[in-house]
Amino acid sequence: MDNAFAGRVAVITGASSGIGRSLAIVLARSGWRVGLIARRGSALEAVAGEVRAAGGVASVAVADVTDREGLRLAVEGIAGELGPVDLMIANAGVGVPTTLEPVNVEVVEETIRVNVLGVVYAIDAVLPSMLARRSGQIAAISSLAGYLAMPGESAYCASKAAVNAYMASLRVQVRGRGIAVSTICPGFIRTPMTSTMTFMPFALSADQAAARIVRALRRKVKVYNFPLPTVALMSLARWLPEWLLAIAFRDHLENPPMPEGWEPAGQVRGGG
Ligand SMILES: NC(=O)c1ccc[n+]([C@@H]2O[C@H](COP(=O)([O-])OP(=O)(O)OC[C@H]3O[C@@H](n4cnc5c(N)ncnc54)[C@H](OP(=O)(O)O)[C@@H]3O)[C@@H](O)[C@H]2O)c1
Repeated sequence: MDNAFAGRVAVITGASSGIGRSLAIVLARSGWRVGLIARRGSALEAVAGEVRAAGGVASVAVADVTDREGLRLAVEGIAGELGPVDLMIANAGVGVPTTLEPVNVEVVEETIRVNVLGVVYAIDAVLPSMLARRSGQIAAISSLAGYLAMPGESAYCASKAAVNAYMASLRVQVRGRGIAVSTICPGFIRTPMTSTMTFMPFALSADQAAARIVRALRRKVKVYNFPLPTVALMSLARWLPEWLLAIAFRDHLENPPMPEGWEPAGQVRGGG
């Protein structure tokens, strides 16, 4: 256990699978008490069981991040059980390709609701208390996709670009108020979200990603883009002419990798 963090409280949205689940376990191993939020209660209980089996402390609250009041109550319940929130990681997200004929507008709407408003609501649930205490840390799990407009991923890329801008603005706005703000932009990570994707260069496991993210959060890094080979690849891709980008993404456009069992508009997704 890392004594510097013993007893401190972290809340993670989207803690029922993938990166969120791994973050909960890595943080708990460092002594953080973890509050776990997502829609699937049984999956959250399983993660809480893993945390407790490793000697950690976990509190579970079921909430949809697109429900502002429900999320606020979930965070309040966790704070009541574990104590004031020192670290909020707004991690919950969906990643579903945007189709063309027809445009899956309901998917675009859901993506913006979860990936953008879900982050805003998670921050809103902890910010008043952090401002009053002049202490705290807020992180959003964005994506390198926020830097590159990828064909067939319009909604996802737009949502992550919005998160990047929101966090950058917030960071300056809370300057001098004792609150650290971090934007975390991973490359490809093997999780249920990417289980149907075939092209994932330099992919990391969720555990590897979580270990790197926690190290970056400890250093209160403002923007953390990783892993470096994917950062380099994405930077190069930004200079590609559009005709070449279209060729590079042809397979992605012809066979959009819809996540397994994904259901639009507020329906609980199975699996994962
Ligand atoms: N995997 C990658 O390659 C990658 C790369 C860059 C960034 N990211 C980002 O990392 C974050 C985590 O993704 P992941 O790869 O770990 O995906 P994942 O395994 O599918 O996990 C997504 C998590 O978000 C939760 N969630 C989704 N919609 C929600 C809602 N409306 N309310 C509450 N929770 C909701 C899910 O829980 P429930 O279904 O139980 O609600 C689940 O715990 C996302 O923001 C994603 O965009 C992922």
